Amino acid sequence: MKLYLGEPNEKQKLFLMDHHKHVGYGGARGGGKSWALRTKAILLCGKFAGIRVCLVRKTYPELEQNHIVPLKSTLHGIAKYNKSEKQFTFPNGSIIKLQYCRNDTDLENFQGVEFDVIFIDEATNFTEYQLKTIAACCRGVNDFPHRIYYTCNPGGAGHGYIKRIFIDRNYEEGEDPEEYNFTQALVQDNDALMEADPDYLRFLEQLPPKLKKAWLYGDWDIFEGQFFEEFTDNPDHYIDRQWTHVIEPFDIPPGWKIYRSYDFGYSKPFSCAWWAVDYDGRLYRILELYGWTGIPNEGVKWSPDKQFAEIKKVEEQHPYLKGKQINGVADPAIWAADTGESVNDVAVRHHIYFQKGDHQRIAGWMQMHYRMAFDENGIPMMYIFSNCKAFIRTIPLLMYDDTNVEDLDTELEDHVADEARYMCMSRPIKPQLGAKNIKAEDDPLNMRAKRKKSIYVRRG
Ligand SMILES: Nc1ncnc2c1ncn2[C@@H]1O[C@H](COP(=O)(O)OP(=O)(O)OP(=O)(O)O)[C@@H](O)[C@H]1O
Ligand SMILES: [Mg+2]
Repeated sequence: MKLYLGEPNEKQKLFLMDHHKHVGYGGARGGGKSWALRTKAILLCGKFAGIRVCLVRKTYPELEQNHIVPLKSTLHGIAKYNKSEKQFTFPNGSIIKLQYCRNDTDLENFQGVEFDVIFIDEATNFTEYQLKTIAACCRGVNDFPHRIYYTCNPGGAGHGYIKRIFIDRNYEEGEDPEEYNFTQALVQDNDALMEADPDYLRFLEQLPPKLKKAWLYGDWDIFEGQFFEEFTDNPDHYIDRQWTHVIEPFDIPPGWKIYRSYDFGYSKPFSCAWWAVDYDGRLYRILELYGWTGIPNEGVKWSPDKQFAEIKKVEEQHPYLKGKQINGVADPAIWAADTGESVNDVAVRHHIYFQKGDHQRIAGWMQMHYRMAFDENGIPMMYIFSNCKAFIRTIPLLMYDDTNVEDLDTELEDHVADEARYMCMSRPIKPQLGAKNIKAEDDPLNMRAKRKKSIYVRRG
C-alpha cells in the first residue's frame, strides 16, 4: 500500500531529518509547522511497527481542526480512527494518540502514560511546567526513537522556556545542549502556502509592529502584550542609575527603613524580598530569596518551616539586615488556617512577622507602573539591585491576560511580581508628574525599545 504525503519544503526537510531528543521548529506564523508535525508522525508510524506517538495541542477544537480532520483525510483507508479514544491505529499496531491540555488539571491525562514520541503543536501556548510534565511521558524500554518535537511562535505562556532552550540555548543543570536543536521556518519558507495564499503574507505584513515582528520575522525578543514594557535593565547605567531600573548594589545608609515582602508557594515557587526605602520614599530591592520547584520532587521545594528558617537566617546574618527592624508585608492568603496552622502561624513561630498585604491587583500593578516610570532625569521610584536575579528574569516575561485585559496572565511565573506588588501597595505613591512618554527621537540614551509607550499613554 502506498501513501503520498506530498513534498516537504527545505525547512521541513531539516525538521523531518532531525534526530535530536528535543526538536524545535517554526518561530513564526505559517511556516508549515502543523503539516511537518503531522507528516513526521505518520512517517514514524509507517517505519516502526508498534510505536506509540502522541500529538498534543492546547484545546480540543484546535486539535480537531488542525490535526484530526486532516489526519482522517490523509489516513483514510489506512489507519483507523477511534473517536472516544481519539486515536489512530495503523495496521502494524502503531498509534497516534491525539491529546489536548487546557490547564494543569488536564495534565492528569498524562499521568503514568508512556509514549515513544511526543509532538507538541504551538508549544508556547503551554507553561514550562506543562511542557515538562508532558515531555516526561516520553519514555519506554524499547528501541524506538524517543523524541519530543515542539512547534512554536513567539509569545504565550511558554515563551520564556522555549526561547531559553531553543533560541538562547541557555541550559540548566541536567539539560544536555547536544539534545536540543531548532530550525527556524518563516512563512516565506512555506512554498505551498506562498503559492496557494499570497494574501497570507500581506496579512502578516499589515499586523501591528509587535505582532508583525513576532509572527512575520520570528523575533523572540518582542512580546505581544509584555506587561512591564517599561522595565529596563541597562548595565551601562548601573553606576549612574539613570534610565535603568537595575543598579549596582551599594551599602545601605543606616537611617533607611527596611521592608520584607513575601508571597507563599510550595507546589509553586515562593518569593521573599527585602527592600530599603530612601528619604524620598524610593524603593530599592536589595535582596531576595526565591524558591523554584519546576517539576515536583526536583529542585528547591521548601516547606513553610524551612522557608521561614532560611528567611530568619538571612535577616540575622546579612550585613544589610543584621540588627535592623524589618517590617513585613505578605499575601493575605497566608492567614488562612484550613489545616489548623496557617502559614502565618509558622512564620510567627520563627519570629517572622507580617502585615496583611493589600491584594487589589489592578491598583497594585498601577503602583508598580508608577514606581517604574522615569522622571525627566531618568530616575525611577523603584530600583532593583543587580543581585536580584528572580525579579530581573521574571518581570520582563509577564504578559497581559487575554480576557482580563488590565491584569497580567496569572499562568505565568508571577510570584516575584505578586510579592513586589504587596510591597508597592504598602507604600502607595502618586504618579510622577515629570514622567512622560519617551519617544525614540527624544530618548536621551536611545533605549526606547523597552519603554516606547509611557503608562499614561497606555492607560489613557
Ligand atoms: N510541504 C507542504 N506541502 C503541501 N502543503 C503544505 C506543506 N507545508 C504546509 N502546507 C500547507 O500550508 C498551509 C500552512 O501550513 P501549516 O498549517 O502547517 O503552517 P503553520 O506554521 O502550522 O501555520 P500557523 O502558524 O497558522 O499554525 C496549510 O494549508 C498546509 O497544509
Ligand atoms: Mg499550525
